[in-house]
Amino acid sequence: VFHKHPEHYDFASDGMMGKFDTAQLQRGFKVYKEVCSACHSMKYLSFRNFADLGYNEDQIKAIAADWAIQQPTVDPETGEATTRPNIPSDPLPSPFPNEVAARAANGNALPPDLSLITKARHDGGNYVRSLLLGYQDPPAELAEQFPDAMPGPGLNYNPYFANLNLAMAAPIAIDDQVTYDDGTKATKEQMATDVAAFLIWAAEPKLVERRQTGLAVLIFLLIATGLAYMSYRSIWADKK
Ligand code: HEM
Repeated sequence: VFHKHPEHYDFASDGMMGKFDTAQLQRGFKVYKEVCSACHSMKYLSFRNFADLGYNEDQIKAIAADWAIQQPTVDPETGEATTRPNIPSDPLPSPFPNEVAARAANGNALPPDLSLITKARHDGGNYVRSLLLGYQDPPAELAEQFPDAMPGPGLNYNPYFANLNLAMAAPIAIDDQVTYDDGTKATKEQMATDVAAFLIWAAEPKLVERRQTGLAVLIFLLIATGLAYMSYRSIWADKK
């Protein structure tokens, strides 16, 4: 009764004819970069994939080189673990060197990799958007009916999260938390929507091509069926 299904939002990429809104993806990327990437990796995404968002080669090189976390590597001389600046072919580096460090920084909870989160969760885009906007005080009835489900220390109540309480505190907390380059007003809802759109793209960058191919295949099959039926009619035409 307390757990809620995600609220529906019409993303530009929804539907058979949906297309990604590149300006929105750039804004969502900025939210990921300035807010979420402090805790969440996106290991299946490489800097060069940002070409899809409309960035050119020089911009991508700059995004990679300026990224706050460097790429882990091994010093060829000493064999010691070290880091170097990112290049376009690198995956986005994880904010934490390993799971122990990630949990230590997050009250023993593990921030999941966000590359595929919109696929891993049911109705993923809407879920992420609703989750980000869904933080609230636990309802009074919860304390009465299910006191054990009240948020414990370090946990935050959110009806869109399956077990109602999660370790992540509201990451999108105030309007204008990021400054958009295209002048869009960064309300909390705008930021949550944009980052959800960005995560939908990241989990399936070829979404639009897949649907277009599917449509072409359906049209082809329709024509092929028509032709097959016509040949059947003509082959049997004089066998009455
Ligand atoms: C969990 C998204 C920022 C720490 C999650 C989940 C999502 C998410 C979708 C998974 C919920 C699930 O398992 O279904 C985001 C987005 C962010 C953001 C879009 C930026 C807008 C942050 C930040 C931190 C953080 C800045 C750390 C300060 C965590 C932790 C969990 C989590 C620890 C695991 C919670 C648990 O299992 O109880 N986040 N996050 N997140 N996030 Fe974030």
